[in-house]
Amino acid sequence: MNTIKNIEFYKHNIKHEDAGRLLEVLKSPFLSTGKVVEEFEDKLAGYLGVKYVVAVSSCTAALHLSLLALGIASGDEVITTPMTFMATSNAILYTGATPVFADVDRASGLIDGESVIRATTRKTKAVLPVHLYGQVCNVEPFKRYTILEDAAHCLEGEDNYCRKPGVNSDGASFSFYPTKSITSGEGGAFATNNKVLADEVRMMRNHGMTKGAHERYGKKYQHWNMEILGYNYRMSNIQAALLIGQIDRMDGYRQRRTEIWDLYETGFRDNEKIELISTDEHSAKLMFTILVKNRDMVLHELQQQGIGVAVNYRPVHLLDYYRIRFGYKEGDYPNAEYIGNRTLTLPLYPKLTDSEVEYVIEKVNRVV
Ligand SMILES: Cc1ncc(COP(=O)(O)O)c(C=O)c1O
Repeated sequence: MNTIKNIEFYKHNIKHEDAGRLLEVLKSPFLSTGKVVEEFEDKLAGYLGVKYVVAVSSCTAALHLSLLALGIASGDEVITTPMTFMATSNAILYTGATPVFADVDRASGLIDGESVIRATTRKTKAVLPVHLYGQVCNVEPFKRYTILEDAAHCLEGEDNYCRKPGVNSDGASFSFYPTKSITSGEGGAFATNNKVLADEVRMMRNHGMTKGAHERYGKKYQHWNMEILGYNYRMSNIQAALLIGQIDRMDGYRQRRTEIWDLYETGFRDNEKIELISTDEHSAKLMFTILVKNRDMVLHELQQQGIGVAVNYRPVHLLDYYRIRFGYKEGDYPNAEYIGNRTLTLPLYPKLTDSEVEYVIEKVNRVV
């Protein structure tokens, strides 16, 4: 009998102890940005090995503010990859600058150094590589540029010198969306060793105000000023309370994802119709994707079998907005398109049991 299991695409790892911290915040008057956010920022900075972390409302907000803090504006170009979630290039558009795509390496899906050189013009102000699926994109070849890393997928990854994102660049942005390794529902952070950049991002996350609410109202009232135009991109104490404990458990979760990853690799090794994205031991191993022909057919069939799946990603340059505004067409970035036409993401999270993984492997092999 063909029993169908229901396997979610993702399950978060928030525990009772995190809910306990959240309850403490709810008992206090300060629900928005305050001491708990500061505690989270310090803890994450320690984990990453950077001097400064600024917590914000999303990774998109972190990308937007860090680009602005670098002075990127209308007339500038920022080179990035089309093999990403469109938040990466949208953040460049928010500043008034133009995202210029460079094709990716076909084996890894990471932005390709030669393509970056070809995309460089006199207007190029920065490079924004993405650590796709958790793989660490080597930023060393881009050191002649200003580098902002999109590390939405890569909290735990390290380069060959054990450096986490944000350490060997101008800064890195992280996401705490539910499918990421730690989550507060929504949330993000910017990490950097550059104090000027960190201060600017911190001020801009709160409208450009010189003092946060807990400083204004904490003890004796203090007046605030507004020095630059900012946004409401704050993280709340509620979100930070959920995240603090997850930092301690993050490496354990990556360990479990690696075990599942190995099961998948072994399970698909002999299937000639499945191509795998190359990876190495430095990767955060956040997303496991297979490349298959007839991807949409396979995707729908797996859904019929109760398996949660996703597409990460259809290349950004072929989304309607980008096609219409910039005139992109098929064939512009062949490697990104090759991956984008075939990629299919399978469930990968610590709560997935071995028998569920076996089920996914069996169904994928059969359907493909
Ligand atoms: C590569 C990448 N960059 C940026 C983002 C945006 O993150 P957020 O939803 O926290 O704004 C995502 C979200 O999934 C992402 O996958």
